[in-house]
Amino acid sequence: MVTGAARGIGEATVRQLASMGADILIVDLNAERANAVAADLKAQGTKAEATTVDLTDRAATLDFARNVGKLDILVNNAAPAQTSADFLDIPDSEWELQFAVIMWAPLILSREIGRAMSESGGGAIVNISSMSVKNPVPYVAPYAAAKSALEIITRVTAAELGPKGVRANAVAPTFVPTERNRPVWERMGVSEEAARTGHGGTMATTSDVADVIAWLCSPASSYVNGQVLYVDRGALSAT
Ligand SMILES: NC(=O)c1ccc[n+]([C@@H]2O[C@H](COP(=O)([O-])OP(=O)(O)OC[C@H]3O[C@@H](n4cnc5c(N)ncnc54)[C@H](O)[C@@H]3O)[C@@H](O)[C@H]2O)c1
Repeated sequence: MVTGAARGIGEATVRQLASMGADILIVDLNAERANAVAADLKAQGTKAEATTVDLTDRAATLDFARNVGKLDILVNNAAPAQTSADFLDIPDSEWELQFAVIMWAPLILSREIGRAMSESGGGAIVNISSMSVKNPVPYVAPYAAAKSALEIITRVTAAELGPKGVRANAVAPTFVPTERNRPVWERMGVSEEAARTGHGGTMATTSDVADVIAWLCSPASSYVNGQVLYVDRGALSAT
């Protein structure tokens, strides 16, 4: 199950997981796009479904988590559009929105689905963080703060559920051109094709990140637990 998989990094992740033989459950607000991705995967022979959950709705998220059935993989990837406002001017509602989708929903899903996984032999949880935790650029305070909390939740989940066979890791990507940040890369003069293919290797693509997420979901990473993997081609190590 991958949240926010109707497009972007989430969509690339379900496509990669499907190519590795996983059955797919897409959870997203955007029903039309989520259904289209699921239909495309089905046409390629994958067992795939899409379901609509508004992850800002804590009660609906809890109800969904308790009734979703057995899962081996949970990827908490959904995130709302980012603010671009000065710290002094960000309204409480924006802090609440970012924390609802980035921290509360993964917390509820990890707790409920993690409980079911630990009772049924284990599983893998991957939370999508961001480089903005280590490098909090101006104007994204609620987003970066919520991602920071998500990294701690990842480590606590790993420590407490690890002995029960549930691994929890996080992937923190650098800037990846997707719909969420289209105005930024369009302003930089990056074309549609260049954004999709990585602009001659100078930019990350959704599949650069999806490959790492899928690896952390797979038995190939069975001894990796509680890690936050920064996917940035070394940018942070140079600062
Ligand atoms: N693109 C980047 O540069 C970048 C960098 C670092 C981290 N990330 C993280 O990667 C993840 C995916 O980012 P992306 O660029 O693919 O974003 P995106 O905006 O393209 O996709 C996000 C998906 O989440 C869904 N979503 C948003 N709010 C929701 C809600 N309330 N309920 C259910 N679904 C909801 C959207 O419908 C969308 O399909 C996010 O967690 C993001 O913070 C992205």
